[in-house]
Amino acid sequence: MSDPVSINYIVAPGGALKGRFRLPGDKSISHRALMLGAIAEGQTRINGFLEGEDTLATLSAFRAMGVEITQRNQQDVVVNGVGLHGLTAPSGPLDLGNSGTSVRLLAGLLSGQSFNSELIGDASLMRRPMRRVTQPLQMMNADITCTQQGTLPIKIRGGRKLHGIDYALPVVSAQLKSCLLLAGLYAEGKTCIHEPAQTRDHTERMLEQFGYVLNKRSNSICITGGGKLRATEITVPGDISSAAFFIVGACISEGSEITLEQVGINPTRDAVIHILKSMGADIMVNNPRIQSGEPVGDIRVRSSQLHGIEIPLDLVPAAIDEFPAIMIAAASAKNRTVLKGAAELRVKESDRIMAITEGLKAIGINAKAHADGMEVEGGRIRGGVVDSFNDHRIAMAFAMAGLAAKDLITIKDCTNVNTSFPGFVDLADQAGLGIRQGDAGAR
Ligand code: S3P
Repeated sequence: MSDPVSINYIVAPGGALKGRFRLPGDKSISHRALMLGAIAEGQTRINGFLEGEDTLATLSAFRAMGVEITQRNQQDVVVNGVGLHGLTAPSGPLDLGNSGTSVRLLAGLLSGQSFNSELIGDASLMRRPMRRVTQPLQMMNADITCTQQGTLPIKIRGGRKLHGIDYALPVVSAQLKSCLLLAGLYAEGKTCIHEPAQTRDHTERMLEQFGYVLNKRSNSICITGGGKLRATEITVPGDISSAAFFIVGACISEGSEITLEQVGINPTRDAVIHILKSMGADIMVNNPRIQSGEPVGDIRVRSSQLHGIEIPLDLVPAAIDEFPAIMIAAASAKNRTVLKGAAELRVKESDRIMAITEGLKAIGINAKAHADGMEVEGGRIRGGVVDSFNDHRIAMAFAMAGLAAKDLITIKDCTNVNTSFPGFVDLADQAGLGIRQGDAGAR
């Protein structure tokens, strides 16, 4: 196979964002709809599915385990559920590409199967921590291993009888919580999970949409194995993590006004709105409603002068994927923004504390990395060359910085934007960002 071609973004300085837009479907919800649809009884329809590389990796994995999944068009998917015990052995390792959510949730689901399986991914995913899932799954009697370094490949031997556990999560992670809930579906007795801080609750909400009863109490959740999932219809909202780039872009560019329609505003995901508002952003959420068990709204943003803040610790989990975008807002705000309690950013698709601070320095902004966060001194964004470290969210965040920049910004290695936001360049261009793609040659 030839090396994939690496794409650079070249972003012209200035401009403003205007218009009404729909964003691609929520990535977290799309993964879960496929997974629960696959092990439900009956036919599940997913509308507004995110056709990104990450969710397509999940889709391929289930096809490889015998699930018939048809795409009526890019966003409408039909999953013919095989029931909790209907998956079949894949013919080889399941390659989940860049997708941490696929691999960690599947580790839980596959621990309860009768067949063996192996999970692998791309260079970034092969470096990310997996012991957080293998350890508690072993406590549930799964036969699951990762490497000595705690990384992929994960190898699972099937045919084990799982039992429920009572487990306090040592890391704040929705992927870990969801992994254990999925294993809990296959376990004898009750699996109870206690979170140190609340993380996104899409798995819990979606299990309920599929008719599965859970017990929830503040930051604890229990699931009893042995039930059934009933197929349903899921309409996926726009992804607030994708919206974040446009929200920040509109905040920092004079004369902007945009409305992002039908975006997920689940309170475990919407801290980006609260953080930007406390920095002085002009954001309104209109027409709030519930769709397939998830809160949804239309987000209107107008430009405004932002000021730096100390980000409240309790908002960090609900904004964990949005810090690349938020730090671009901080770069063009008055004064300093301080982020603490976000060490998890070190183990995302890239080390985001390093990637954000290096990128900001490359465009003339004073930024300092700390073990669990960073400080950013707002100022005048210059032009420069930014390395995205193959991280989709770093690439899109720095593209938006162009709106407040004095000179051209070039962002290297943006191919992975396709993992979460296919069509980003076209949509950003349509909204008013002066962005074009350049082919930087083979990686
Ligand atoms: C996700 C959970 C978060 C988030 C990721 C998606 C999910 O990861 O960063 O993009 O869909 O459950 P962690 O669970 O590692 O915090």
